[in-house]
Amino acid sequence: MASSVPVFAGARGTVYDDGVVRLFTLAAVLWGVVGMTVGVLIAAQLTWPELNFGIPWLSYGRLRPLHTNAVIFAFGGCALMGSSFYVVQRTSQVALFLPKLAAFVFWGWQLVIVAAAITLPLGYTQGKEYAELEWPIDVLIAIVWVAYAVVFFGTIGIRRVRHIYVANWFFGSFILAVALLHIVNSAAVPVSLWKSYSAYAGVQDAMVQWWYGHNAVGFFLTAGFLGMMYYFIPKQAERPVYSYRLSIVHFWALIFTYMWAGPHHLHYTALPDWAQSVGMIFSLVLLAPSWGGMINGMMTLSGAWHKLRDDPILKFLIVSLSFYGMATFEGPMMSIKTVNALSHYTDWTIGHVHAGALGWVGLVTIGSLYYMVPRMYGQTRMYSVKAIELHFWISTLGIVLYIASMWMAGVMQGLMWRAVNPDGTLVYSFVEGVKATFPFYVIRLAGGLLYLGGMGVMVWNVIKTARGGEYVPLRIPIGPMKPALPRTVPVTA
Ligand code: HEM
Ligand code: HEM
Repeated sequence: MASSVPVFAGARGTVYDDGVVRLFTLAAVLWGVVGMTVGVLIAAQLTWPELNFGIPWLSYGRLRPLHTNAVIFAFGGCALMGSSFYVVQRTSQVALFLPKLAAFVFWGWQLVIVAAAITLPLGYTQGKEYAELEWPIDVLIAIVWVAYAVVFFGTIGIRRVRHIYVANWFFGSFILAVALLHIVNSAAVPVSLWKSYSAYAGVQDAMVQWWYGHNAVGFFLTAGFLGMMYYFIPKQAERPVYSYRLSIVHFWALIFTYMWAGPHHLHYTALPDWAQSVGMIFSLVLLAPSWGGMINGMMTLSGAWHKLRDDPILKFLIVSLSFYGMATFEGPMMSIKTVNALSHYTDWTIGHVHAGALGWVGLVTIGSLYYMVPRMYGQTRMYSVKAIELHFWISTLGIVLYIASMWMAGVMQGLMWRAVNPDGTLVYSFVEGVKATFPFYVIRLAGGLLYLGGMGVMVWNVIKTARGGEYVPLRIPIGPMKPALPRTVPVTA
């Protein structure tokens, strides 16, 4: 049975290294606002192209990768690094291994983000989606990532709880897989300080890129956040994980299957047909572990469903799982070749992406941040619970407007593009499809503004919480190694 007993703050013991966690949580909020503001701007540019203003560094083509990098690697990355450092200390009952290296991880990662924010609008890019950054920044990422791995696995290595809690397995797989993906996919031949060419060519390049791209989804946008889910849902619900056995099956099945599904991004391309079919089959199989994890997270609330009524943090965490379930049902369906023939290149893909991004990644992150932030300031709850509730409802409404409009736009586009007259000519010109999409783009923009508005409420709440509290270092009692029972979430603060 989980417990929310605060950590013993005795005179003896080790102090948790929460300074770096606090910095990461604040950075996540800041970069979330920045990345989503750029998202809103590019959504407006797609609606009214005049908003490109004829300025190259404000143009859609340069701001789009700025948006994706900011939300995934800056907002998501800071949240993942901060929460993994928070969780690994508490579930291992030790302070971070090499705290100065942890501080280097924070500042190094911020340097990567700032370098991306400068170079992408200037047009420096490798042209690979989600791996746009040029080679000097790639080298910096590799160095920071290795330091991150040393701190995380070093902390596991010196743990004082014999069992390694499942959240750490997910965080650990995310760290190892992202290192592998980054190094293999970024292999390039530099020709100058800011220009390089991929080490791969032709369809091999495409396949490596989408092996990377899909596993960036699987490990960056999924496994890491499942690590968050497996810690913060049981803590906030004050219930043990529904089935610890299922969480282990979930882990191994998920990480094994994700690695093979990448070719579903390359249906009907020069990639051999059998490889496309392998991608499709593994994508369909992926439904099972994904839903197993979702059910495990949701059922953790067994006997405590009433808590959802007045705990907005739980609402964030549990609703994030429903969007996870939605995206991981939709994804396998879109990987079926005949369905992909309709969805590919359309806004349906964008709707799918943001069901996962805003619904799953965004909400689970926001819920976890609301859990951690007050604890970083010696408090147990945020300044205003009502503001969290408000944030929850406007962001949920924003997501619904965003994804519903993109689904409708996507299916409409796909059907318009394939409509043919009896004489074999096209019924619609491409531009007619673009014009028909206009109202959906306006609705998507409204959804994005609501989601961003929710982040504004969060900023206010975080500032108020920080001002009203004080950072109190928590002490961990010194004792013998604990043989933690697998079904428990270790007693932590
Ligand atoms: C206020 C919130 C947001 C708005 C308004 C927004 C808007 C947009 C827009 C307009 C695009 C380009 C769509 C296109 O090319 O047709 C886009 C792409 C993308 N966004 Fe967002 N976004 C938001 C939040 C997020 C978040 C939080 C994440 C991730 C955690 C995210 C991840 C992505 C990704 C991965 C793409 C590329 C999709 C693809 O290439 O298929 N977005 N977003
Ligand atoms: C079982 C799980 C999933 C499967 C099988 C899956 C499958 C797919 C498929 C078939 C596409 C369309 C590829 C194309 O036509 O180009 C796609 C696109 C995408 N999905 Fe998923 N998806 C899954 C879950 C998720 C989740 C949870 C997220 C986000 C957190 C996500 C993020 C994305 C992104 C960012 C793209 C756009 C990639 C791009 O073209 O830039 N997916 N996915």
